[in-house]
Amino acid sequence: MAYGKLADVYDDVLVGEGAHARWAEFLDGLWRGEVRRVLDVCCGTGLLAAELVARGYEVVGVDGSEAMLAQARRRVDAPFHCSMLPALGVEGEFDAAVSTFDGFNYLSPDELRSSFGALAGVVRAGGWLVFDLHTDEEMRFMAANPVVESGGFRLTSVVDEVARTCEMTLEGEAFTEHHLEYFHRPADVRSSLEAAGFEVASVRDDYSDRAAGESTQTAVWIARRA
Ligand SMILES: C[S@@+](CC[C@H](N)C(=O)[O-])C[C@H]1O[C@@H](n2cnc3c(N)ncnc32)[C@H](O)[C@@H]1O
Repeated sequence: MAYGKLADVYDDVLVGEGAHARWAEFLDGLWRGEVRRVLDVCCGTGLLAAELVARGYEVVGVDGSEAMLAQARRRVDAPFHCSMLPALGVEGEFDAAVSTFDGFNYLSPDELRSSFGALAGVVRAGGWLVFDLHTDEEMRFMAANPVVESGGFRLTSVVDEVARTCEMTLEGEAFTEHHLEYFHRPADVRSSLEAAGFEVASVRDDYSDRAAGESTQTAVWIARRA
């Protein structure tokens, strides 16, 4: 099962030092006081939720892995719900929804489209949807670097550039997990967002002020509900 035992070591072996603090700073600067209630989708171990709560936001987290959510609940006092997208498993209205660190790459194109529809049902008019996705440049990078080893951890990637998928095997001392990610076509992402009632404000290179370009490996999509 994906994100089972990996949850115990996720923060140590997969996450870059200070990454979530940097992303929270980016979001805080983007929202400029317009946002109070945030839905953190595919929230994982709650690293971003904790950074947002520390900055005064009210955060609700959703993830499909109980093991990841157990870590999140230990980290921060916020409501966390277990649900597999496209089902959100939450009600109410949010000023923003966010998904960091390639959570949406785990969704098939159909699931991504349905998830945007579900998010349009909980993000208020004028509210924000911000998420990152691997780009085609990242797909090529992963194909060219099929094995990555670091700190007793090994990631093996099998990229199918026609199917636009990556089958990953993650091996640590106490676990082996198989993950499947999708590389979404930017035109499909845009049309799925628009069909759900979101307008794309910009697509950035990582969490920066630069527009995404040819060399971008992580594209950050910033959309607003019409
Ligand atoms: C790479 S982690 C990112 C976690 C977190 N957003 C972060 O920034 O650290 C991807 C997360 O997506 C969750 N996930 C994958 N597919 C999902 C789905 N269909 N529904 C809900 N969560 C999902 C996994 O359980 C995992 O916690």
